[in-house]
Amino acid sequence: MTSQKLKKIMEGDKKYLFQNYGDRLPVSFAKGSGAYLYDQEGKRYVDFFSGIAVTNLGHSHRKLSKVLHSQLDRIIHTSNWFYNAEQVEAAMLISGISFGGKTLFVNSGTEANEAAIKLARRHGIEKGISEPEILSFSNSFHGRTFGSMSATAQKKIQDGFGPLLPGFCYLHYNDAAGLEKELAGNRNLAAVMIELIQGEGGIVIAENEFVCLLSDICKKRDILLIVDEVQTGMGRTGKYFAYQHYGLEPDVITLAKGLGGGVPIGAMHSRDGLVGLLEKGRHGTTFGGNHLVCAAAASVIKEISGKGFMDRVNKTSARIFGRLEDLKKKSGIITDVRGLGLHIGIELNVQGMDYVKKALEMGLVINCTSEKVIRIMPPLNISDRAVKEGMDIFEEIITGEVKQN
Ligand SMILES: Cc1ncc(COP(=O)(O)O)c(C=O)c1O
Repeated sequence: MTSQKLKKIMEGDKKYLFQNYGDRLPVSFAKGSGAYLYDQEGKRYVDFFSGIAVTNLGHSHRKLSKVLHSQLDRIIHTSNWFYNAEQVEAAMLISGISFGGKTLFVNSGTEANEAAIKLARRHGIEKGISEPEILSFSNSFHGRTFGSMSATAQKKIQDGFGPLLPGFCYLHYNDAAGLEKELAGNRNLAAVMIELIQGEGGIVIAENEFVCLLSDICKKRDILLIVDEVQTGMGRTGKYFAYQHYGLEPDVITLAKGLGGGVPIGAMHSRDGLVGLLEKGRHGTTFGGNHLVCAAAASVIKEISGKGFMDRVNKTSARIFGRLEDLKKKSGIITDVRGLGLHIGIELNVQGMDYVKKALEMGLVINCTSEKVIRIMPPLNISDRAVKEGMDIFEEIITGEVKQN
């Protein structure tokens, strides 16, 4: 039953906010602690969603909160007119867990991709391509601003917004034959933008052979390989970045979501040799990389690169996958379980949204993407107890059987 408090919030939402998110799920969270969320009435939920892979350290993380409080009390923002110690530290840490290189901070995933698109065009133009093109893949998701939306090869995202940005071409994901043909025939190609696990596209993993071929051709032809790690990055897949599962060397990675543990930050990170393409005055943002968000990012990176952290992510992942595989055998509705680390998709042979709503009623926050894929992305440091609680609820909604303790 909807409480008076929630009813008031829902009325305010309708009255004062754009309705671009449609009907939100009928809950409003008031606080969080670790992998638990609490609504306005204090009802507790296990969080298997992390605000779309953002709160990777859970809620009210002790060290992150302390860093944020202390930063708030010192300085929040000064702008990119000035040197910024927190920016330097965050960039140094990103560089340390990736491939060296340099960072340009922005405010979101879509902005990180916009920066990468500008870098890619500059790369093409420097190579003498007057109208450089960027290749992306079917069912991808790169964001909602014009460049990233144009890279997002999904009609439902692009439709109704008039002319898209020119200079994009698309191919089927995991289609190695098509890739060879397109890359051989298109002399205007400056860059390829790819998610190695398509998150919004239904947790679809890029095949190794396809990725190796892509990387080889990009290297030979001096085409930039941009890996969109907005959802997969920052430890989500059991390594710091998804590209590290493939032994790849991307030219550029784009980051956001988990980077700030909940504060809005994005980043484009590239190898050193590309930095000159965005020389003085070519790009910028008022808020990008301010003291507060960079202090958060540095704190998040220190935490995920701490001793044993990633091992624990992989142990938790194995535990969840184990339970899901058992559940798949028992249930008639799970057709596939896939993913890497704690980036997990459970494909159903029915629509997933009813299960998301049922889970919420029972105190579990999950998500549905691509209509039939339940997406599970718990905080990376979730406790065994919370995993068990969440999985017991999930099992109950899938099988209708209550787990006995
Ligand atoms: C892979 C990927 N790229 C880019 C974006 C856009 O990020 P943002 O919503 O922060 O603009 C998303 C968001 O879901 C994403 O999953």
